[in-house]
Amino acid sequence: MSKLKLGVLISGRGSNLQALIDACAAPDFPAEIALVLSNKADAFGLERASAAGIATAVVSHRDYPGDKPAFEAAMDARLREAGVELVCLAGFMRLLSPWFVGRWQDALINIHPSLLPSFKGLDTHERALATGVRFHGCTVHHVRPAMDDGPIIAQAAVPVLPGDDAQRLADRVLEAEHKLYPHAVRLIAEGRARVDGDLVRIDGPVPELPTILNPPL
Ligand code: GRF
Repeated sequence: MSKLKLGVLISGRGSNLQALIDACAAPDFPAEIALVLSNKADAFGLERASAAGIATAVVSHRDYPGDKPAFEAAMDARLREAGVELVCLAGFMRLLSPWFVGRWQDALINIHPSLLPSFKGLDTHERALATGVRFHGCTVHHVRPAMDDGPIIAQAAVPVLPGDDAQRLADRVLEAEHKLYPHAVRLIAEGRARVDGDLVRIDGPVPELPTILNPPL
């Protein structure tokens, strides 16, 4: 079985990267990580990758002051050299230009800690609590030039519970993220998640959906 080659872009702790590493360790998982690329040399995710024997690279935006095209061209080159077929953003904290997004059209996905299109941007858990929503969650979506925009591949919902603070809610969402990202990558690697305009159509059954953890009523 030939596996889909992933490039995972990180900036920090890399817990979603770890979830992908763990998923890829299963022999029947249809994807493998060819490269972990960070824009920060001290990202803890790089240590996770090295511990798993995965190739790493650092392309620091600080080495390209005021020259985003050169920064992105350097990242693009590293990904191509590694034979990457699908780029997974996993806590990558730089906004990508329309050029980079276009280079990886429909082969560039992101995980965002909210049920998009609600709560784009930062501080999603604080804003979910301030809004009073009863469900929150996470989304894996194709990347488009606008921030946190693009066809939705998969979502997981978690309840907002009485007494939650942002950290408790973030922890609950993060647990769902770690199930959702491998699930979405699997759908793509199996060729079952087709981009159709602004939507993603899923072909065939979706077993073991890691979604909707209902609150006890
Ligand atoms: C996650 O909450 C992810 O949804 C968001 O950034 C965070 C990254 O966390 N895009 P980690 O580095 O994967 O632990």
